[in-house]
Amino acid sequence: MTPAQTPATLVLGGGLMGLAIAHQLARHNQTVLVISRRRSEAAGFVAAGMLAPHAEGLSGDLLRLGQASLEGIPRWVAQIESDSGLSCGLRTSGIVVPFRTASERDAYPTAQLGLTLDRASLDREIPGLGPDWTTGLLFEQDGQIDNRRRLMRALERACVSLGVQFMEGAEVIDLERDSAGHLCGIHLRSAEGSEQHLHCRQAVLCSGAWSQHLVPELPVFPVKGQMLSLQGPREALKRVIFGPGIYLVPREDGLIVVGATSERDAGFAEGLTPDGQKQLQTGINSLLPMAANWPPMERWWGFRPCTPDEGPLLGSGPFPGLWLACGHHRNGVLLAAITAELTAGAVMQKAPNAAAKALLEAFRWNRFEN
Ligand code: GLY
Repeated sequence: MTPAQTPATLVLGGGLMGLAIAHQLARHNQTVLVISRRRSEAAGFVAAGMLAPHAEGLSGDLLRLGQASLEGIPRWVAQIESDSGLSCGLRTSGIVVPFRTASERDAYPTAQLGLTLDRASLDREIPGLGPDWTTGLLFEQDGQIDNRRRLMRALERACVSLGVQFMEGAEVIDLERDSAGHLCGIHLRSAEGSEQHLHCRQAVLCSGAWSQHLVPELPVFPVKGQMLSLQGPREALKRVIFGPGIYLVPREDGLIVVGATSERDAGFAEGLTPDGQKQLQTGINSLLPMAANWPPMERWWGFRPCTPDEGPLLGSGPFPGLWLACGHHRNGVLLAAITAELTAGAVMQKAPNAAAKALLEAFRWNRFEN
């Protein structure tokens, strides 16, 4: 690719953030090249797809970011579905958070935003719920999307239909800067093993848990999650159940996605572990004992991109020309819509409105410095 042929923006990472940003840029007639190393490791294929700012008990700026994204999701999904011709599997199923005691429930950060359930109403919402749970909160405003089977494919198709270019199996080795410190290119190793330089003045870093490998000053580290799925009877579970350390997400066809361990000390250690799988099984037995008899379908793991305050890194990066969309930890699927909107606006140098400006300021990459 000569400098004249290189698209205006390079997106480094072909996971959910990379695709969502490429899609928004392409919708604004920008030329984009998405460079990805290994699609299967993208957190977008690993997550359960909960849209759960309230059920996750977020607070402060992260709750505001999550709520802004949740509000924009129907419109975002409609764009993807119209550009791709594919369904994304969005469901406003509501999420139930069960508790053992009323005091645990009342101490939940988002308790005021949910509907209080007693045991009788818990039984109506979640037939078969385990006996330990005496009360709960229903967040009807939260939902889910079928990220693994539908959203990722639809987004990719939407990008292709709008002319986004892709380079698969390529590893970015280095970001190059000119004498003024501005991004001027990237150095990569292609799928065939040859090294190449691509000229670029603008790139968006969407490399998830691996973001620090390219930009060492970014405080992003992996938090491993192990998951599994079960095939339940259709409609056996209508709401998502979000318990402590375990959640069950029912898809329309009866598939139940079960997550997830949260392993901060695992680094990038690949694979399932007996302890991790046991933790999921114990959680299933406690939340929904009848699901222990449903056949397991798949087991997998992935790496959440975490930061010290568990919020993402958004907006301009440590040097001009580099934009950030990484570090979304547990909330990547939820935050993809707002991340794509904020990032595309920043890359295109559109003046942000007051709300967008406040969010970009709250999630700037160097907020951890004293
Ligand atoms: N969003 C849930 C998780 O990361 O496990």
